[in-house]
Amino acid sequence: MKRNRVVIILLLASFVFVLSACGSSTKDGTQSDQTSESSDEGNNETGDQTKLVMGTSADYPPFESRNPEGDIVGFDIELANYIADELGLELEIRDMSFDGLIGALQAERVDMVISGMSADEDRRQNVDFSVEYHHSGEMFVTQKDSDLTSLDDLNGTTIGVQLGSIQQEGAEGLQEEYDFEIKALDDAQALIQELLTDRLDAVYLDKEVALGFIEAQDLIGFDDPSGTTPGMAVAFPKGSDLVEKIDTIIEQAIDTGVLAKWEAEWLSE
Ligand code: ARG
Repeated sequence: MKRNRVVIILLLASFVFVLSACGSSTKDGTQSDQTSESSDEGNNETGDQTKLVMGTSADYPPFESRNPEGDIVGFDIELANYIADELGLELEIRDMSFDGLIGALQAERVDMVISGMSADEDRRQNVDFSVEYHHSGEMFVTQKDSDLTSLDDLNGTTIGVQLGSIQQEGAEGLQEEYDFEIKALDDAQALIQELLTDRLDAVYLDKEVALGFIEAQDLIGFDDPSGTTPGMAVAFPKGSDLVEKIDTIIEQAIDTGVLAKWEAEWLSE
């Protein structure tokens, strides 16, 4: 009897272990969520909202990434916590792949997305955006010894972009003029690893993020002169009544200098 119980406990423990391993290693957009401040309650039966569920892709420092303790931190997380505080709601962060964020909003699995997401016109067909809270251009990041120093050098190269990003779209546009391959990966940090191991000639991403990787990994890069892209904004399911409220909160953060304080703390320019 006692032995059986031990066996059952061991089985349960290994099941939990396997589940948690899945949770941290896959970004399937549903189960890999983490609750930043955990609570048992959630939203109560009367339907009153107590939680604010945010989707993000925590692979984009300094906007959102995991610190050595495994917590999601960054500029966007400051903003998210501020918004949740102002609304009097408890923030729950779900980490998913960037490419799945719009779908999560459409399926209303999350109340909002803050993920360095540019308020792009195409996306506006499927989601609503807040006012913009940051603007960063684009950059190509290369290894220090690279000959790739301008768009004209793109011919014959392989460029990495994040799947579903505006850079993927931008690179596809550049292919009309230049002859290069695109490799689109789920995870922005994996792109940098591919670059460091010579499987990519350059990575095309948001300038602010690029500058961070350049500094941290001793890389170089050049600005993308090819166009202007929209700034970053909070995204919502279409018709969400949070849009107006959160616009006011972001404007307040700008006016009171709180946003400038996060910029000084997290961003390089
Ligand atoms: N700004 C780009 C876009 O909106 C890339 C954002 C990627 N964000 C992330 N957390 N990986 O498409």
